Amino acid sequence: MKILVTGGCGYIGSHTVVELIDAGHKVCILDNLSNSSSLVLDRIEKITGTKPEFFKGDIKSKDDLNDVFNLANFDCVIHFAGLKAVGESVEKPLEYYENNVCGTINLLQAMREHNCNNIIFSSSATVYGSPKSNPIFEDFPKLKATNPYGETKSVIEDILIDNAKANANFNAVLLRYFNPIGAHKSGLIGEDPKGIPNNLMPYITQVAVGKLERLGVFGNDYNTVDGTGVRDYIHVVDLSLGHLASLKCFDLDNNPQIEKSNCHIYNLGTGKGTSVLELVDAFESANDIEIPYEICPRRAGDIDECFANCDKAFKELGWKTKFNIVDMANDSWNWQINNPQGYQL
Ligand code: NAD
Ligand code: UD1
Repeated sequence: MKILVTGGCGYIGSHTVVELIDAGHKVCILDNLSNSSSLVLDRIEKITGTKPEFFKGDIKSKDDLNDVFNLANFDCVIHFAGLKAVGESVEKPLEYYENNVCGTINLLQAMREHNCNNIIFSSSATVYGSPKSNPIFEDFPKLKATNPYGETKSVIEDILIDNAKANANFNAVLLRYFNPIGAHKSGLIGEDPKGIPNNLMPYITQVAVGKLERLGVFGNDYNTVDGTGVRDYIHVVDLSLGHLASLKCFDLDNNPQIEKSNCHIYNLGTGKGTSVLELVDAFESANDIEIPYEICPRRAGDIDECFANCDKAFKELGWKTKFNIVDMANDSWNWQINNPQGYQL
């Protein structure tokens, strides 16, 4: 297939591009590099032997979108481009709605104008809010997000669902990611957060590499196995392979196990919850490094526990995860130790 990958220079996008190229697909990346580096392109070439086509452009610009769609007839779009910092979204809601929601509407209009009818969208488990129980199934109700970032994901899902209802020839796959961590085993691509990381694993690796002094554990009085928050961590390569498997939704005739619909929703997780202290412990034993930490107050908006049921993705797409928490800890560390400053040389 010829695939347009928006946000393909970012963390999840770059790993997915590697898997797409390895599977024989032709990839063109559209990215404005607002949260990534063009060095990623050389790294992808080192891993796969192929440098993906790259168009520096912005989904907020209709002209950029028109130009990129004039480059080729794309069979589908995998749409990663978006802003994702929860705290920043609270401070700059308009920028988040404009970038994520208006950008996606521009993209969908450009797809319609250029007769490209298939899209895979990066959604998030955040749309489930604080779920009534775990594991979380796809038919659990969506709850109001606690921040504008989460709300953009929910709104975009609704837009895609409505567009699929209105157009029988439009096909959408909504992938709800749980907590992606880890990196490609080469150590050449990985997560490169700007400034102090908000998320747990990059914080741990930066403590391990000596950039940060100690981890703050946000609360130890949650209703969980050891009082710390429980999440479903998924290796970014497994997550990337979930996108590859989702392409089957655009070929229903040859995949009778997939529900006959033009809009599909799948959880992508491991189905297993891990607490903050369990993840710290796994990192310490996998890499033989001590992670100093202190218990801090809870972080606003955090929930006790969140892990997926992924039976639907297995049954319909034949996808399930291969990597465990130790693999994730090893690969996150391998990336960090080889790139202590991320993509900055
Ligand atoms: P990332 O920031 O590393 O990648 C996003 C990419 O999109 C970046 O390269 C950025 O430069 C680009 N981008 C942003 N706005 C753009 C615009 N207007 N035009 C063109 N390019 C633009 O983030 P990621 O972790 O790889 O996440 C990818 C997607 O998955 C995002 O939509 C994110 O919200 C979603 N998601 C991520 C997580 C996670 O934990 N990382 C969890 C759930 C969902
Ligand atoms: C967060 C976002 C979510 C987003 C996801 C991926 C919030 C409330 N949620 O999810 O919307 O989709 O990132 O970007 O921000 N923790 C610590 N110390 C730290 C960092 C985290 O103890 O320094 C704990 C958290 O309290 C949580 C767990 O580690 O229990 C995971 O946190 P994090 O990696 O930020 O992911 P989520 O909160 O699940």
